[in-house]
Amino acid sequence: MDETEFMSLWQTEKRPEFPRFRGDETAQAVVVGGGICGLLCAYELLQNGVKDIVLLEARKICGGATGHTTGKITSQHGLIYRKLTDGLGRERAEEYARRNEEAIGRFRKIVETEKIDCDFIPCSAYLYALTDDGVRRLEAEADAAQHLSVDARIVHDCEIPLPVRAALCFPNQARFHPLKFAYRLAEILRERGVRIFEDSLAIALEDNTVVTREGRVYGKNVVLCTHYPFTNFKGMYYTRIVQSRSYVLALENARKLDGMYLDCEQGGCSFRSQPREGGDILLFSMFDHKTGHETGAPHYRRMEEEAKKLYPESAVRFRWSAQDCMTNDGIPYIGRYRQQGNSVYLASGFNKWGMTGSMAAADLISGLIVSGGDDCTVFSPSRSDFSMQAPVMFREIGDVVANFTKGYLEPPGRSLSELKNGEGGLAEYQGAKIGAYRDEEGALHGVNPVCPHMHCPLRWNPEERTWDCPCHGSRFDETGKVMENPASRPLEQRGPD
Ligand SMILES: Cc1cc2nc3c(=O)[nH]c(=O)nc-3n(C[C@H](O)[C@H](O)[C@H](O)COP(=O)(O)OP(=O)(O)OC[C@H]3O[C@@H](n4cnc5c(N)ncnc54)[C@H](O)[C@@H]3O)c2cc1C
Ligand code: FES
Repeated sequence: MDETEFMSLWQTEKRPEFPRFRGDETAQAVVVGGGICGLLCAYELLQNGVKDIVLLEARKICGGATGHTTGKITSQHGLIYRKLTDGLGRERAEEYARRNEEAIGRFRKIVETEKIDCDFIPCSAYLYALTDDGVRRLEAEADAAQHLSVDARIVHDCEIPLPVRAALCFPNQARFHPLKFAYRLAEILRERGVRIFEDSLAIALEDNTVVTREGRVYGKNVVLCTHYPFTNFKGMYYTRIVQSRSYVLALENARKLDGMYLDCEQGGCSFRSQPREGGDILLFSMFDHKTGHETGAPHYRRMEEEAKKLYPESAVRFRWSAQDCMTNDGIPYIGRYRQQGNSVYLASGFNKWGMTGSMAAADLISGLIVSGGDDCTVFSPSRSDFSMQAPVMFREIGDVVANFTKGYLEPPGRSLSELKNGEGGLAEYQGAKIGAYRDEEGALHGVNPVCPHMHCPLRWNPEERTWDCPCHGSRFDETGKVMENPASRPLEQRGPD
């Protein structure tokens, strides 16, 4: 795949570079994963007096979800507060709201004290409804939020070109350029002595020693910020996390918006502007589906048609998609990773709200490391409020079983020679089923279309020319290289040499 084809708007920013990890080292804290969560955890640890830190990144800093986010910094996480209050009670819902609200202030403080030039703009966030039923749900959400002391009010004026019936406004939120922020933060960490390594995949955690292909690093404390936990067997995270994808267009010549907007219906549209030389650019996003599902759907074409209807003068400048880890109850896993021992910590499952979620994680985990104490109950990875988690968990286990069965029974459909240039999918080669892609020059790339994580049959995604796993969301490019975890090994090569 052309690496720039689905590049995000943010990724035009110049990236700092870091060496590969080699050798044997020790540290007071090892942070695994160099997305916004890992960087913020390292920063908060430094601020709290932990000076000896190693950070390992499998690929490049912020090349994962963080490089593809829409960068809204908000405690407005869809219709969350009614659900949390009803499911967990007022106290825990309040804790969730408070931690996320504080996170907005923490971003502001870091931007100011570190003088980070990252287009940080205070603004309001709006959750909008297009139907009567949606308005009723917004009203219930407003009521729940206000009971938790969250500043939230129903308004009727909206800047977006949709027939909005009402919107729930959260004032005092913010937006920023996530990579201008994160890249500068990485440089600050390096300047203050944090040893950051790229192209350094952690392949195992043996007690508190993180093992890479070229060395080992022992950490008195280990913080796992790898998006999907790479040690997901312990704690059975493969039954507790689902990966969900969304799609983004960056539009030129679309009306500049002051606020940030999100449909209260799942999968609806989201809007926000971003300042840019030559005029603001509008980020327009849509869709919300489990990775490896809807692989035949023309998401980009449908979005571009929708964008053209809403903003006829606009032109698409960038388009990309990304996925985030969704938990069964919609709350991130932040705290002690008990199955790995008392000094291993986990931050994952941000449910597409990982800006404030990561900041809350950095604060909570650095607090646990420096001051001890118990996990924060609402975020604890070992929480056991099964009434909120069980329905989704059983549905997802059923879905995994169905995908296994369907995938293994699916016939190859055609022989290898029938694949035209630019086409991919299952094909028959010497009596066996393989996965194949014939590139535009006619060269064939053959793989075993089975996920190395837990052997789920993969699906070909023609839109992005990837192999996607419908079970836990790993993704591979057309040559079989890992693009998204939890898989850590490439696909086996198959077919003619
Ligand atoms: C389309 C979309 C829009 C979004 N918009 C918003 C938004 O507006 N506001 C908001 O709050 N949130 C948003 N989110 C969610 C947010 O972007 C994510 O939750 C957040 O970026 C996750 O950060 P992270 O550091 O946990 O993960 P990542 O950024 O993915 O970082 C994890 C890093 O760990 C590395 N890694 C993985 N395995 C290993 C290993 N074994 N060894 C070493 N390193 C490893 C990866 O290479 C990666 O760089 C959005 C998500 C999506 C998909
Ligand atoms: S990601 Fe688990 S089987 Fe593919």
